[in-house]
Amino acid sequence: MRAAVLTGQGGPPRVAEVAAPSVRAPEDVLVRVLTSSLNHADLDAVAQARDGVPGGLGLDFAGLVVEAGSAVADLAPGDGVLGFLPPGVPHEGPGAFAEYLVVPARLLARRPATLDFVQSGVLPLAGTAALLAVDAVVPPRRSRLVAPTRGPVLVVGGSGGVGTLAVQVANARGAAVVSTGQPQDRTLLHLLGAIEVLDYSGDWLPEVRERYAEGVDGLVDLVSDADRFVILSELVRPGGRVASTRGAADVSALARRGVTAVNVVARSDRELLGRLVDCADAGTLQPVIDRVINLSDLPSELGASPRPHGCGKVAVTIGD
Ligand SMILES: NC(=O)c1ccc[n+]([C@@H]2O[C@H](COP(=O)([O-])OP(=O)(O)OC[C@H]3O[C@@H](n4cnc5c(N)ncnc54)[C@H](OP(=O)(O)O)[C@@H]3O)[C@@H](O)[C@H]2O)c1
Repeated sequence: MRAAVLTGQGGPPRVAEVAAPSVRAPEDVLVRVLTSSLNHADLDAVAQARDGVPGGLGLDFAGLVVEAGSAVADLAPGDGVLGFLPPGVPHEGPGAFAEYLVVPARLLARRPATLDFVQSGVLPLAGTAALLAVDAVVPPRRSRLVAPTRGPVLVVGGSGGVGTLAVQVANARGAAVVSTGQPQDRTLLHLLGAIEVLDYSGDWLPEVRERYAEGVDGLVDLVSDADRFVILSELVRPGGRVASTRGAADVSALARRGVTAVNVVARSDRELLGRLVDCADAGTLQPVIDRVINLSDLPSELGASPRPHGCGKVAVTIGD
């Protein structure tokens, strides 16, 4: 089968013929990967390969079940599925930028009926991170009878892969979403539900301090390092909630200020993926795709520096 592989000798990955994996454990599923997407973890893997560490590449996948192990009762050949390989966890085989993948069934969910394979393949990791970040800051309401009005929630990095999904989920939960973004992303961010878009090429903090003098209710931060996160979390009122996908939140220091903080770590499991699929099928989550590239484009795509600006995800098709 064809797969993108890291050599461990530096330089971008190459697309090569490698041995296809096979089902070995009873709970394993062999998936024919049709689509995937780029994540920061892939860029990190390429950077680590430059340091001499070979390894697999690609986390997200959507595709078709080819074979299910003897203990897998609820999936059969031909079923459409999606999922992601847990970042940082060694995986047998080259990763998800490959024509076939073997994964335990517990890492798979059926793909959304309302989305095509390209849309399904960009959802798993970014969508799971977005869902967990919004859960931490705008918890789901227990009753549909409660009026859907919430205070302002700031999304920093709202134009990116995770951000375009987080803006939609927070908006669907009734939050008044204020997002950062470049001027060319403004229209899209409004369409996704942001009531206000702050151009992050300038200093947007004074505007937020002035407009929300009592503080915003929440912060979903997909960009900042720990030092910047300290500054941005000061925009949040005591009693508010913050989340970082970059491990930037000092949870105990924020608790002393009365702010609840979560460092999000996306979990690859069926329950969470299922919630994501339900959001997509309910129409509250629409993946935003910046570009679609093919497996054969990955060496040049992953070798490009600096990365081009985009809004949403870069999808990767695996077949021709
Ligand atoms: N913890 C987890 O489980 C988990 C899961 C998924 C992702 N992540 C992490 O979450 C982060 C976001 O991931 P992603 O896939 O959404 O990345 P992404 O697609 O690159 O999005 C980042 C967005 O932030 C924008 N941005 C850059 N600098 C900014 C600034 N100073 N202020 C405001 N916005 C700025 C970027 O715009 P430009 O295009 O203009 O640069 C881009 O739209 C990454 O660090 C990733 O590693 C963590």
